[in-house]
Amino acid sequence: MSKYKIAVLPGDGIGKDTIEAAINVLDAVGFSEKAEYTYGDIGWEFWCNEGNPLPDRTIDLLKESTCSLFGAITSKPKDEAAKELKPELHNKGLVYFSPIVKLRQLFDLYVNLRPCKAYLGNPLNFRDDIDLVVFRENTEGLYVGIEWHPVPEAVMKTIVENHPKAKRFAEANLDDVAISTRIFTRDGVQRILKASMDYAKKFAYPTVTVVEKPNVIRETSGMMIREARKLIENYEDVELWETNIDAMAMWLVKNPQNYGVLVASNMFGDIVSDLAAQLIGGLGFACSGNIGEKFAVFEPTHGSAPKYVGMNKVNPIATILAAKMMLDWLGENDLAQKIEEAVAAVIAEGKARTYDMGGVTTTSGMAEAICKKIAELN
Ligand code: IPM
Ligand code: MG
Repeated sequence: MSKYKIAVLPGDGIGKDTIEAAINVLDAVGFSEKAEYTYGDIGWEFWCNEGNPLPDRTIDLLKESTCSLFGAITSKPKDEAAKELKPELHNKGLVYFSPIVKLRQLFDLYVNLRPCKAYLGNPLNFRDDIDLVVFRENTEGLYVGIEWHPVPEAVMKTIVENHPKAKRFAEANLDDVAISTRIFTRDGVQRILKASMDYAKKFAYPTVTVVEKPNVIRETSGMMIREARKLIENYEDVELWETNIDAMAMWLVKNPQNYGVLVASNMFGDIVSDLAAQLIGGLGFACSGNIGEKFAVFEPTHGSAPKYVGMNKVNPIATILAAKMMLDWLGENDLAQKIEEAVAAVIAEGKARTYDMGGVTTTSGMAEAICKKIAELN
């Protein structure tokens, strides 16, 4: 059998430590015998030295790979990023962009799947009966990157001529206005809704909650709700709930156990998935899959945590669970299950606890505990 080609992109900061931890766990379940890992360049270092945080060679590597396991990257606002370029690259018009956002769009990874399940024994759980799965649209919405500052005259003119509510901006100084667009397409909306409903059906979640704001954002959020109402007709055992993003934040803190699958556009999904992650222990436990029709990139939801670099300190469970999601996507469900059981058992035992859980176990120590548990359970 030919081997899986896994592009490993540790990225910046603690991404390097947590990826190493996850690879150790993949070794422990025997996946590494079936895989070929190729490490790729991505992140801040390549922005500073090459003016590109996602070099073409990395894109080529991904195109040849079955899927990718990604660590974390450092992102900074554009002006700060420009200052950190090496001197030869200054004043060349280079503009920093988020490589993970670019990857999602370039490879059309339209589902951002973010399971948030409480593992028993985790001292950080808000409640022990939380089992939420966030489906975040991953390619459109406020993340399309179509924005202006200052606003070009032609853009402002078109808006003012075509929308009655834009008249009040007609006289504005163009340098004093900034515009970021939120674009939804019917296809984009339908496919994320369908993915969320298929998942609910497959894993017997009774509800799919659309998390938008159609009472104010009538056209984009409205399109999402209208399409959801049509699509749900195909799912007998799944009920559609509609909750505004602001109310959802409140309900998730009040009654998170009542929810199952949540589906939201890109920015709302970004926000609600951080909230949901905190309910089950925070970013140390939050894993994601960026999934398209033929390719996928799995990553922890957390960032590169510069203040913990080189300390072997952070919780690697989010990355280990991202690796578990990768195995599920590859159809290696038995191996995925082994990781899941070992993680659950280690948390339940409560002997290995990283600093976020109130313990002193290191990143590599937590990976070791999980590897030992895998051996024990076999
Ligand atoms: C996430 C992150 C990213 C996002 C950042 C790092 C660009 O917050 O994956 O949720 O906004 O999508
Ligand atoms: Mg986020």
